Amino acid sequence: PTGVDETQGQYGRMRQYWEIPRKDVRLMDVLATGSYCEVWRAKMKKNSDSKDITKVAVKKVLDDASEQGRKFFLAEMEVLKMLKTHPSVIKLIGCYTLNEPWMLMVEYAKEGTLQKYLQKHRPGEQEVQINNVNEQSVHMKTTNNKLDAHRLLVLAAQVVSGLLHLQKFKLIYYRLSASSVLVSKCGICKLSGFGFPQDVTERNLYEKDSYPIRWMAPESLKDRVFTVKSDVWAYGILVWEILNFGMKPYHDIESNDSVQDQVLSGYRLPQPTHCSTEL
Ligand code: ADE
Repeated sequence: PTGVDETQGQYGRMRQYWEIPRKDVRLMDVLATGSYCEVWRAKMKKNSDSKDITKVAVKKVLDDASEQGRKFFLAEMEVLKMLKTHPSVIKLIGCYTLNEPWMLMVEYAKEGTLQKYLQKHRPGEQEVQINNVNEQSVHMKTTNNKLDAHRLLVLAAQVVSGLLHLQKFKLIYYRLSASSVLVSKCGICKLSGFGFPQDVTERNLYEKDSYPIRWMAPESLKDRVFTVKSDVWAYGILVWEILNFGMKPYHDIESNDSVQDQVLSGYRLPQPTHCSTEL
């Protein structure tokens, strides 16, 4: 990205000092809760001397978070500090670690998760017909803010560009899905919530929801190994979610255990009816 980023306030991107005074941040309401942290919608002063306020999302460590949870929090913070900004990766604005509870301030994605966004903008059945995305004549009408075929592919491309950026920093996403991607006010996909690959096994013990079975590659299902290649698999499932407007993958298979068995026996997500073979 180029240009000056308003949300960075008085600080440059490569700054060493990320601490934000606690009094400059006002927590508004809880957006999500995990096993060791909560995410809040919040308002923050752009800098201490100014009256300008910006909206942010705040990840706050819970009072009763385990040692391991705290470790994950700090790990994510360090990852975010070292990442260069990218339009498809959620941006760190600052942190508060001088006292407990620790907090991470990141850019606020107004539209929430990509999964919800897709569901909200799902067109009526008659309108869905992604015949050939390379031609002008895409048979998918867009009335009242609904997503058309081109827009769906743009969303998929934005996620890829975010992933390529993470790959430059040798990061594995591990938990990629339409519900782990956020969408900004302008409709741009933003990857968020990543840690270190070596934490994956340990992490499972501490996170409420266990492994993301429906997004896992066969080799990950078999050996619980995650690599950049299993991220590519998860990306394939994510594209299926995009083309199906936020539908749950393998929705007709009830339990995750059955999904695991079936994928290991060679079963694959079917081609969406309105999607060309080429796509
Ligand atoms: N939920 C989790 N993180 C968020 C963010 N950065 N913006 C909006 N909603 C969120």
